[in-house]
Amino acid sequence: MDNQQLQQAVEKRRTFAIISHPDAGKTTITEQMLLFGGVIRQAGTVKAKKSGNFATSDWMEIEKKRGISVTSSVMQFDFEGKRVNILDTPGHEDFSEDTYRTLMAVDAAVMVIDSAKGIEPQTKKLFKVVKKRGIPIFTFMNKLDRDGREPLDLIAELEELLDIEGVAMNWPIGMGKGLQGLYNRRQQRVELYRPADPDQRFLPLDPDSGDLIGDQPLKEESVFQQALADVELLDEAGNQFDLAKVQQGQQTPVYFGSALTNFGVETFLKSFLSMAPAPSEHLLQDGSELSATDEDFSGFVFKIQANMNPAHRDRIAFVRICSGEFTKGMNVTLARTGKVLRLNNATEFMSDEREQVSSAVAGDIVGLYDTGNFQIGDSIFGGKRTIEFEKLPQFTPELFMEVRAKNVMKQKSFHKGMQQLVQEGAVQLYKTYTTDEYILGAVGQLQFEVFQYRMLHEYNSEVTMKPIGSRIARWIDSEQLDQKMSSNRNLLVKDLAGQPLFLFENRFAENWFRDKYPDVKLTAKL
Ligand code: G4P
Repeated sequence: MDNQQLQQAVEKRRTFAIISHPDAGKTTITEQMLLFGGVIRQAGTVKAKKSGNFATSDWMEIEKKRGISVTSSVMQFDFEGKRVNILDTPGHEDFSEDTYRTLMAVDAAVMVIDSAKGIEPQTKKLFKVVKKRGIPIFTFMNKLDRDGREPLDLIAELEELLDIEGVAMNWPIGMGKGLQGLYNRRQQRVELYRPADPDQRFLPLDPDSGDLIGDQPLKEESVFQQALADVELLDEAGNQFDLAKVQQGQQTPVYFGSALTNFGVETFLKSFLSMAPAPSEHLLQDGSELSATDEDFSGFVFKIQANMNPAHRDRIAFVRICSGEFTKGMNVTLARTGKVLRLNNATEFMSDEREQVSSAVAGDIVGLYDTGNFQIGDSIFGGKRTIEFEKLPQFTPELFMEVRAKNVMKQKSFHKGMQQLVQEGAVQLYKTYTTDEYILGAVGQLQFEVFQYRMLHEYNSEVTMKPIGSRIARWIDSEQLDQKMSSNRNLLVKDLAGQPLFLFENRFAENWFRDKYPDVKLTAKL
């Protein structure tokens, strides 16, 4: 690939994640998008995977049970001249630090909200991470075929709960059983929900009055009149669309629709892909920036998925390509160790099949078979120049476990496994402040299960774990620390760097502490 071809290839890429609370409709909308991209013949494929009916061949038991598969964690398809990569962010019990880290590997995010429920807790958590990165966020208010909340309320909630401006790109004409269509001011047309003639889905609007052109029965309906009035209100008092703000993640374009009935999804996909950025530059550890069209290959590991086959210890390291071209069998240098690795076995993520990757560029994700070389956050590069990306952030864990080796005679394998899995970023490790008992921290329960499984299967170390439960972790300056501040309700521990932190039982305990010690500064990570 010469430089011009590389530029053209990068320009086509759109890499994003879908964030949502479980049940908002992420799977359904993903499936519709894949259908538009022509990669699945029949809606239901992704869904079947989720419910565990899908025949995933050889993944570790936990993952099989939960129906997670590597092919559903990155999906690639072509749509209208663009090559789209969707990175999955698992919900529920599958939620883990990997979910957050995946958000470090995308250039934009789609936020799916259930229009009957509004913004829910997991959406809020994921949103915070995305917002911090300053990447564009596009919102889909789903389930318009059901009665939901007032559209104006939903838009206002974005600002109130997420502190982001919402700009309606289209507006519902009725909802639930009364749903008639979507009023699209920007494209000056109405999209009908159930058109009498499927070829007449769109009705033109008068650019001056904003009303329907011609003698349309819909004109007289009260839901249409209501939509007109709402749009007028939005024009006068709502946020005005501003592409620069969208690109910086300060404003989110909002689209209404129904993923299940495939209403408004295509309009949404086309519209946000036209605004979502192609891969551009990435920040390096030395503070400089690397362009996506730089001809030297580079990328970073944002997720490690273990373990395909218990007989081998292999796992897959997910690499986000940041520059250059990836080719099968190429040699790369691992920045952390300086070791040169030959990348023979790589997987790209196309539809349902795992296919051997031939060539990939910035924005694409490749899965590298790994026998223990990689850690999360590792940078790899193909040229002579050392390329090291800025460190991935650490996330504040919310769940904690005491952990011990079941067999005290097997301390060695316990410590080795523990050290390697912690280094790899599978879980976070803490110790009680004075007694040095091990405590694991995670953002999701699955991390503990994977840890326990891998300790047994990869390090032959059976561990026992005792839940401490959900806690709020807050770091404290060691100079301000007095061990007497600690109690059952705010357990004192230290992190790997020896920094002290309290694990508060709940918000109440944290507030009580803050009241009692107003001068003590407590901080969270991301
Ligand atoms: P998730 O991945 O975000 O967890 O959500 P998912 O797509 O699985 O959707 C959750 C439920 O909401 C599913 O119903 C799905 O059919 C439904 N749903 C998704 N989009 C829409 C929509 O636009 N309108 C309506 N009315 N429902 C929608 P379920 O009963 O849990 O699953 P299923 O067994 O019916 O598939």
